[in-house]
Amino acid sequence: MLNKNLIGGEWLGGSAALEIRNPSDLDDVIATYGMATPADVKAAFAAARKAQPAWGRMTVEQRSMVLDALYRGIMDNKDRLAETLAREGGKTVPDALGEVVRAAHIARFFSGEALRMPGEKLGSVRPNVDVEVTRDPVGVVGLITPWNFPIATPMWKIAPALAFGNAVVWKPSEKTPTLSVAVTELLIAAGVPAGVFNMVIGAGPDIGAEVIAHADAISFTGSSSTGRKIAVACAQRLIRCQMEMGGKSPLVVLDDADVNLAADIAVNGAFFQQGQRCTASSRLIVTPGIHDAFIKACVERIEKLRVGHALRADTQIGPVIDGTQLSKNLGYIDIAKAENCRLAVGGALVERDTRGNFLAPTLFTETNNSMRINREEVFGPVATVIRVADYDEALAVANDTEYGLSSGIVTTSMKHARHFQRNVESGMTMLNLPTAGVDYHTPFGGRKASSYGPREQGRYAVEFYTQIKTSYLSV
Ligand code: UN1
Repeated sequence: MLNKNLIGGEWLGGSAALEIRNPSDLDDVIATYGMATPADVKAAFAAARKAQPAWGRMTVEQRSMVLDALYRGIMDNKDRLAETLAREGGKTVPDALGEVVRAAHIARFFSGEALRMPGEKLGSVRPNVDVEVTRDPVGVVGLITPWNFPIATPMWKIAPALAFGNAVVWKPSEKTPTLSVAVTELLIAAGVPAGVFNMVIGAGPDIGAEVIAHADAISFTGSSSTGRKIAVACAQRLIRCQMEMGGKSPLVVLDDADVNLAADIAVNGAFFQQGQRCTASSRLIVTPGIHDAFIKACVERIEKLRVGHALRADTQIGPVIDGTQLSKNLGYIDIAKAENCRLAVGGALVERDTRGNFLAPTLFTETNNSMRINREEVFGPVATVIRVADYDEALAVANDTEYGLSSGIVTTSMKHARHFQRNVESGMTMLNLPTAGVDYHTPFGGRKASSYGPREQGRYAVEFYTQIKTSYLSV
């Protein structure tokens, strides 16, 4: 058993064993980890509290250099990290490599942001007084991250947290510990002082709860139901929180769109990465003039997608992360069938020569927006087509959801594109691009049940990871 929880600069802890298997080949046991106990989490916070003040007082350049070293460390190890991610997380190797490089670039971006810690100086209403608005670290932040982007999502929390002088206790998903340990090793090699960065492996209900009980702030990415509970717990402790949660992102396709472009965008947004993205285009909202041709073009593409072992060079769609997720996806396929949706393609498990969680990309047509399949997040390779009468109905259906993360429209009409951009109720919107796949230097986040609290990423990240101090100085 690998006791790989990083607490105060040492690899410690671990009681119950956690066995990790390759989702492309369930006979491939990757490793067995010792999960952290609540006492281990307490120790991690004690170490972080001790280490944080000195880290917060370091020069901005010292912190910047650590993140720059982390950038180089990730780049120097990118192929090894991508292979680990593909084997443990089921992403295809090109996808995994893309995510690893993205994580490196996030570290590099925040290496620059560390130097640019913003502040303000104002005049006072009183004579001979200056006012300064400065930013202090928040303290020890708890970061809780999911398995679907197991290096990029942690990096867009860890990098700004460290850049702005906080100490970190990171609870990665217990489904991707091997990659999390590799990232932690790179942080140590980059020169993060002992105690400033801590990592605990464990499940949400016990370990996550302990993180929330001790942190000065929580940044969480995961499901809306878990996020809601965490937000309540944070409110009770009066600590700040940043919640990045589910989605049911609409992609509108209008009659004037190029049908091939529309199908390429829809298939990419809905099925790549097995649809396991909160930004996935799960509702395809289509006007009548292009409806049949669009479905035909999508089905042709979906039938050609190569589903299989994530480490094989020709695979385009890897396995679903685990058995729990697979049964949830199959459950939603049954729900859609029971709702009398038409199964256009997919809908069943796929057999390959390894025992993996392979599910065929699945498209349902003849659905309407009040069906459960269109209201609840599936988080798998399942999408639906909703036929609407015109653009106005398309926009109304796009907005008729409890979520509001990403959205998109495929059209050649400037009028509709601009109207959609202004009126769609989502935190991010795409014109003639997939709803998933975002840049790393721009704000990421949604509205309604998709997000809560300040934005992540880009220069907006400073809002969450610092607290404001207003100083009045007699001069
Ligand atoms: C992306 O679409 O590029 O879990 C990123 C998710 C998001 C990240 C999406 N937190 O899908």
